[in-house]
Amino acid sequence: MSANNIVKQHYKISQAERIRLLQQKPLIIWLTGLSGSGKSTIADNLEQLLFEKGFKTYLLDGDNIRHGLNKNIDFSEEGRKENIRRIGEVAKLFVDAGMIVITAFISPFKEDRATVRSLVSEGDFIEVFVDCPLEVCEQRDVKGLYAKARKGEIPNFTGISSPFEQPEQPEIHVHSDKASLEECVQEIYSFIQDKIEIR
Ligand code: ADX
Repeated sequence: MSANNIVKQHYKISQAERIRLLQQKPLIIWLTGLSGSGKSTIADNLEQLLFEKGFKTYLLDGDNIRHGLNKNIDFSEEGRKENIRRIGEVAKLFVDAGMIVITAFISPFKEDRATVRSLVSEGDFIEVFVDCPLEVCEQRDVKGLYAKARKGEIPNFTGISSPFEQPEQPEIHVHSDKASLEECVQEIYSFIQDKIEIR
């Protein structure tokens, strides 16, 4: 599908004006990692910390988005690609709106993460690798999905029957099996603090 016969509209309000109004620099904080690695919990707590400090934030989380915007998408390679493509475009809109957007998706493919990075200005995409060994995720099995996947009840399950391509040079690498939740959140906050503040 191409964008034939479509002419881009230019808005009167620019991103720079929104930044001035909101008094913050927008950013995408992109968490990637296995199911059960702690992405959602870290993202949720990070958002709470930023919110309490007065930043304007929004959280996009895989399980929630797959109940709405992306409920027609499966876990095939193509499905995941489209899932991440849409989230990338939504995150880009949030950045244009001046918001700090935190995303929590497995986003297993390097190429798809790189595509999202390329959608925004250099430095506006912060990749956070929430690193937790498969054995630990599987042992936690908070949602009981690993057990089902091992029994063959869930096809293309990340880490079991579908690959996870680890980030090679993420801006932030947290080890959620060793560090506490607070430490992981603090590590991300320390890295982004001077990127989102306007002094
Ligand atoms: S992604 O790979 O397309 O980025 P996303 O983050 O949206 O995945 O959704 C992952 C969540 O969907 C998991 O945390 C898990 O609860 C659920 N899920 C259901 N089926 C699968 C599957 N085959 N592989 C991984 N996660 C799955």
